[in-house]
Amino acid sequence: MWLVLDEAHITNVAVHPEYRGKSIGEALMLEMIQQAIIRGAVRMTLEVRPSNMAARELYKKLGFKEKGLRKKYYTDTNEDAIIMWVEFPCLEQ
Ligand SMILES: CC(C)(COP(=O)(O)OP(=O)(O)OC[C@H]1O[C@@H](n2cnc3c(N)ncnc32)[C@H](O)[C@@H]1OP(=O)(O)O)[C@@H](O)C(=O)NCCC(=O)NCCS
Repeated sequence: MWLVLDEAHITNVAVHPEYRGKSIGEALMLEMIQQAIIRGAVRMTLEVRPSNMAARELYKKLGFKEKGLRKKYYTDTNEDAIIMWVEFPCLEQ
């Protein structure tokens, strides 16, 4: 995660394939959100591949909204990136 002034940018999050589906990715994201807020962030952003439904669902669950596209962002496949944002506080009970 990068923190630039009051904006946090998730650069990478991954769980070993054998341990996916056990809420570890969600726990990692919640910890990053907490650390970002402690350090003064008021919003968080990230890019995700349209084909990455698992990640998109995870981010949606945490309150992220899809706000834009970066055309041909992923140079390996030429896939666009979806840009997602969340404003804090984001965790509705
Ligand atoms: C995305 C990733 C980090 C999720 O980690 P994880 O530990 O498997 O996810 P969790 O078990 O914490 O799941 C949390 C939520 O994510 C969503 N989710 C996770 N896996 C999913 C799947 N296969 N299909 C749909 N939704 C999924 C669900 O909303 C889930 O909530 P639920 O358990 O209440 O249904 C993991 O799949 C991964 O490492 N993928 C490869 C790397 C990657 O794509 N990183 C993101 C780059 S932007």
